[in-house]
Amino acid sequence: MSSNLLFFFIFFFVIVCARTVCNAATIPKYTAMIVIGDSTVDPGNNNFIPTLFRSNFIPYGQDFPNHIPSGRFTNGKLVTDILAALFGIKELVPAYLNPRLSNDDLRTGVSFASAGSGLDDLTEAEGGVIPVSKQTQIYFKAYKERLITVVGDKEANRIVSGALVVISAGTNDLVFNFYRKESSIISQYQDFLLEKLRDRIQDLYNLGGRTFGIPGLGPVGCIPLVMTLKLKARVCLEDVNADASLFNTKLQKLLHKLQATLPGTIFTYVDLYGLISDMIKNPQKYGFTVTNRGCCGSGLLELGPLCNALTPTCSNTSQFLFWDAVHPSEAVYKVAAKLAFDTLQNAKP
Ligand SMILES: *[C@@H]1O[C@H](CO)[C@@H](O)[C@H](O)[C@H]1NC(C)=O
Repeated sequence: MSSNLLFFFIFFFVIVCARTVCNAATIPKYTAMIVIGDSTVDPGNNNFIPTLFRSNFIPYGQDFPNHIPSGRFTNGKLVTDILAALFGIKELVPAYLNPRLSNDDLRTGVSFASAGSGLDDLTEAEGGVIPVSKQTQIYFKAYKERLITVVGDKEANRIVSGALVVISAGTNDLVFNFYRKESSIISQYQDFLLEKLRDRIQDLYNLGGRTFGIPGLGPVGCIPLVMTLKLKARVCLEDVNADASLFNTKLQKLLHKLQATLPGTIFTYVDLYGLISDMIKNPQKYGFTVTNRGCCGSGLLELGPLCNALTPTCSNTSQFLFWDAVHPSEAVYKVAAKLAFDTLQNAKP
């Protein structure tokens, strides 16, 4: 082979390899996905604990594979499911409390999230849900021990340190705690929540977690139930949105600080607030026609047991930003997962 031809082949291989095969199909960026948080990322842990805050009945899951109401609080998959698939980890992130978890499920990660929970141990949309502190201190710890018995010490450490750890929580602390009582000052409560978040990140770090993807709060004042409880007009509550926005500013500062102080960590903030605000401002860009109420029932109040087999639903879920009175539709999660994917791809240590 002439040296020109050889050069051509090497050049060709490098280009093709970099753009396709070697990048996408060989080694996934993460070993596993570990998920902590609330209903935005709970694949059905609440099915296995005594609480009424569940969604394992129709019409939940009507657009899920085989139309299974798995306990996810939406019509289809969650953002973490879609994100895990985009990274080539797996198609669905299972609930840790599911007694039928396989060793393979453990190897590629699970979700400890519990719908209705918060960073504050006192936050609960309904009794019995699992606060984020218990998710990290009890369940994640137990998971790590179980993983060690399956794959051994060294491999368990490799899996956990190579995992993407997603923490999605905080909305319930405002909606089902702070705004119910308003017994403290919002800025102090935000600081308290962020201290709790920092402690949870420390729990995860101590057990080997290194790479964190953390979405900020969405525009909480645009959640249909929040609008319903606070006033009659179907418009976003700007004061509530300002609280969420300030929380996000403080959250980003905290993540910068943690990355600088915890050796080996990468923290990626995902701007959910910007995305959902844009969806509300420019719904047609995303195929939405309704953004101020959910698809289930009247869309103003229905959630959990109030959105059930007897509740009528909208004809096209893809046109609704919200599936029920609190939770985004799968259509939102698809776009959010793509945003998270792109943001994480560009993350730098
Ligand atoms: C449902 O809505 C989406 C988004 O607006 C649209 O692309 C799709 O064609 C609709 N499907 C039906 C069956 O009308």
